[in-house]
Amino acid sequence: MQTQVGIIGAGPAGLLLSHLLYLQGIDSIILEKRSREEIEGTIRAGVLEQGTVDLLNAAGVGERMMKEGHTHHGIELQFNGKRHRINMHELTGGKKITVYAQHEVIKDLVAQRLKDGGEVLFNVSDVSLHEFETNEPKIRFKVEGEEQEISCDFIAGCDGFHGPSRQSIPKTIRTEKQQIYPFGWLGILTETAPVNPELIYTNHERGFALLSTRSPEIQRHYLQVDPKDDIANWSDDRIWSELHERVDTEDFSITEGPIIQKNIVSMRSFICETMQHGRLFLAGDAAHIVPPTGAKGLNLAVTDIQVLLHGIVEYYQSGKTEVLDQYSDICLRRIWKAQRFSYWMTTMLHRNQSHSPFERGVQLAELDYVASSRSAATSLAENYVGLPMEIPGKKSTNLSMLSI
Ligand code: APR
Ligand code: PHB
Repeated sequence: MQTQVGIIGAGPAGLLLSHLLYLQGIDSIILEKRSREEIEGTIRAGVLEQGTVDLLNAAGVGERMMKEGHTHHGIELQFNGKRHRINMHELTGGKKITVYAQHEVIKDLVAQRLKDGGEVLFNVSDVSLHEFETNEPKIRFKVEGEEQEISCDFIAGCDGFHGPSRQSIPKTIRTEKQQIYPFGWLGILTETAPVNPELIYTNHERGFALLSTRSPEIQRHYLQVDPKDDIANWSDDRIWSELHERVDTEDFSITEGPIIQKNIVSMRSFICETMQHGRLFLAGDAAHIVPPTGAKGLNLAVTDIQVLLHGIVEYYQSGKTEVLDQYSDICLRRIWKAQRFSYWMTTMLHRNQSHSPFERGVQLAELDYVASSRSAATSLAENYVGLPMEIPGKKSTNLSMLSI
């Protein structure tokens, strides 16, 4: 098999890259180890930055998101039993976020790729990367037990944290940095009406809680738990009772409903420097992980893809590799800022049992500062809605990516 860009992984990064390349007349093949049903059914986070929403719309895949997603102009921070609204819209000159589940974005992208005749090979196994230090990289894999090979000009490693792409970069060339948190998130989907028009991030003595939404009928909530805890220890009654303890206030009591899904995930910050080697480029979770508290994961994958798209298109249009050569540096500058923000939100909002009473006092003062200082709230808001994308020598708007 032959293509221009061989893409490993049909997550948001791989699917979006394939679609944007198609719009620019560039061929790609996606190799995905899971089935279509699995990738479309995996529950993940759901906050899209303004830039992500604008890009999906400009790329013609935003129709359902605009109908079914929820636009939020602010978030609420709750601590010491009181709510404080951060008006992101006002603090950022009119920006907002959209709550629309990641697996819905995946469904929209898969449907569009298949409609446009895109090649997405599901259920592949034994993917391995070869000769990406030359101009003719190869990807080998098995599909239905048969060995296959793709020859391509570039490989995009969009295979998430556990995929083979990052591991293919020699250890002497990459440096990995990470922070593991002593926090886990127990997430639920529940059949109830929305409990609040905006997301509520709560710092409580018993631990963090987040109230989010999915649709008028389904809500998404999270509780900080021990990352090693077993979901079997959490009956529905225990989950509701803990949510009441942490989020109820004098004039609010969370609405209970049937819990239709629950799981526990651990939290880490991770970054791989460099994100490129030869003609292999890593994007999204393959190169970096952020804790979900800043709602940045999907959005970071999208901005990596925009930079990569720009570099690949420049190469095919003019033979130049200016952007591709700087791909990792351009991406990492923005990723480090998102890492900083996600780390800051995580440490500010979670209850750390190893903290001294003094550190707990500083944590609450930090929240009070954010809630009462316009400058501090602006800093939170501009990071939450998404920092601008900067490609040296190019206009820094997300939409300019589609008219290269
Ligand atoms: N071969 C083929 N595909 C693979 C392999 C492999 N060996 N290993 C992993 N994959 C696939 C996974 O099955 C998955 O569908 O790569 C895809 C990677 O997708 P994501 O993990 O969703 O990563 P990404 O596209 O970078 O999106 C980042 O996902 O984890 C969230 O918070 C994160 O929202 C962010 C987003
Ligand atoms: C979600 O709705 O899943 C969600 C929202 C905000 C976050 C993380 C997850 O910070």
